[in-house]
Order: sequence, then structure tokens, then C-alpha cells
Amino acid sequence: MITLAIETSCDETSCAIVRDGREVLSNIISSQIDIHRKFGGVVPEIASRKHIESINNILQEALDEAGCTFKDIDLVGVTQGPGLVGALLVGLSTAKALAYGLRKPLVGVNHIEGHICANYIEHKDLKPPFTCLVVSGGHTYLVQANDYTEYELVGRTRDDAAGEAFDKVARAIGLPYPGGPFIDNLSKKGNKDAIPFPRVFLEDDSYDFSFSGLKTAVLNYLNQMKQKGEEAVVEDVAASFQQAVLDVLVEKSFRLAKTSGSDKIVMAGGVASNEGLRNMMEKRAEIEGIEIYYPSRVLCTDNAAMIGSAAYFNYINGRESGLDLNVEPNLDIK
Ligand code: KG4
Ligand code: ZN
Repeated sequence: MITLAIETSCDETSCAIVRDGREVLSNIISSQIDIHRKFGGVVPEIASRKHIESINNILQEALDEAGCTFKDIDLVGVTQGPGLVGALLVGLSTAKALAYGLRKPLVGVNHIEGHICANYIEHKDLKPPFTCLVVSGGHTYLVQANDYTEYELVGRTRDDAAGEAFDKVARAIGLPYPGGPFIDNLSKKGNKDAIPFPRVFLEDDSYDFSFSGLKTAVLNYLNQMKQKGEEAVVEDVAASFQQAVLDVLVEKSFRLAKTSGSDKIVMAGGVASNEGLRNMMEKRAEIEGIEIYYPSRVLCTDNAAMIGSAAYFNYINGRESGLDLNVEPNLDIK
């Protein structure tokens, strides 16, 4: 089954052709990051306009690279939410027009589920059930994946997402947007024990997260240094901040895996490309006898191939959307 998938939830316009949910024939990603960078974050109106400008070309490129024509397409998958409403609408309208014109089924996909499914592309033998840590710019979720389309949301951030915290701290120390990868690199040169930033675990039995206190602690530290006329060692700030985030992410993921009897932890979302996180997860996994999975970098951040995978698994499990499908900017994972 050949799926044509579209992703436009934020600042990447992406179209992909995916065979049977696991094999990527093409995955074209056009990033708008350079445009948004000068504003220090994504400007929603600009994002929508840029999606409109590029979607048709990206679609054609995806078909060409896969060696396909519209006649080869069996299924159309598209991100329905969560995301920016205007940005989502560009992808969704395109997908609806294609499904209608080609008389092929349409499946609206949850973007978060898409991030999880990126792992089915990367790891051909991976099967649910597993414990999943979803860490992106907009979301931080601990999910128990019981089946290909059945998820139990066990924990979530109560304020900032992990990626958002990385981006805000990066901005405060003068790094470009999005700051996650820059903090990741800077951390390698710093001392993670230099500054005792807080680790917020919340209630004993909670799988929720909170990163806004940590972000504030970093900003306060930088202000205090400035007031004292001292220069902060940015490498140490980056490393100490990153370690404070990772300690909580890793601890809660393993706690959930143990409680739910999972022998696999799957990571997903942009922050899953963080080298510190991957290393820490793998070290702990060796001790605990658990297997760790994460997608390659290009499949961690936003892309349409992961949406194609999720659309396929939803379709073969009997889910299909009507042409009255609408975007859902605040869509949650069930
Ligand atoms: O999943 P994603 O591409 O978009 C959303 O759905 O939000 O995630 C983007 C986020 C950004 O906050 C970015 O800073 C973060 O992922 N990120 C990283 C790394 N690479 C991307 N954070 C930490 N370390 C990285 N290496
Ligand atoms: Zn994403």
C-alpha cells in the first residue's frame, strides 16, 4: 500500500511517499527555520504563507523522488493536529483535494502519534507494546503504546515542553533558534555538575513534568551573574541545564517502563535527537535490561514520512476520515 503523506503543522513543509507504513520512498522536507530565526521563534502567519508557497512543489518532488505518479497512490495521510491552525489548514486542504480528486481514502493523523511511528520506519521489527517518551518543541508526553493505534497518555508537561525549555534557555545565552541542538553541542564542552539547577519530579506517583521552574532558575542565575559583573560560563550553564532536564526525563521513563512491565522504551520528537539523552538512556537501559529505540535525526524532527507510517497503521486498523475532516490545533493523544 502506497501512502502519500503531508505534514505542515509548524515550520516544515513536508511530503512523503511511504510503502506499507515502514518503507520510505521519499521524504521531502522544506524547512522555514531561516525565515523564523530572525524573529527568535515561529511566526504563525508567516508559516502559513510559506506552506502555501511551497506545498505543490514539495508534493511534486516527493512523487518524482519516489518514482511515482498520482495513479500509484492508495492512501492519503495528513497531520490533523496538534499544531498551528493556519499551517495545518494548508496541508489538510491539499490532502482533502488529493483524496477527492484521486478517489482514494483519507486519514487524518495525530502529529504526536506520527512522531512515535517514526520508530516503525527506523526499526523494521519494532512492535507494540512499549513505553514511549515523546519530547518535542511543543509536547512532552509519557505514553504507554498498547497497540499500533492504541495509546494511554500517562504523563505530560504541566507547563513548558522539554524542547521549549531548551529553546528558551538557548535564547537567554545568545544561541540561535531553535536552540536545542546548540545546547546539545555546547553541553559537551561544559561541566554538568557546575550549577545545581533544580530537578522537578512533582508528586511521588506522578509521571507529569514541569520545566518552567528550571527555565526560571537558569534565567535567574544568568541575571545574578550579570549583576555581580561576572561572566557566566555558557558551556557550564548549557551542560548543567541539559543534565537537569535529562535526569527527570530518564528517571520517569524508566519508572513507567518498570511499572507497566515494558521491556522497551521508545523515544520520539525533536529532543530525541539529543546526544546526551540518547547516551543516558542507553547507559541506564544496559543496567535495567531494557531496550532503547529512537529514530535517526531526520525522522526525529518534523517530517511527512512519520505521518505516512501513522496513516497506514490507522487505515489497516479500520480508521478513515471523511472529507469533512477539520484541523484540531489542540488535538491530544488518546
Ligand atoms: O519534534 P519537533 O521537530 O517539532 C515539534 O513538533 O515541536 O521538535 C523541535 C524541538 C525544538 O524545540 C528543538 O530545539 C528540539 O526539538 N531539538 C533538540 C535537539 N534537536 C532538536 N533539543 C535538544 N537537543 C537536540 N539535539
Ligand atoms: Zn513535531
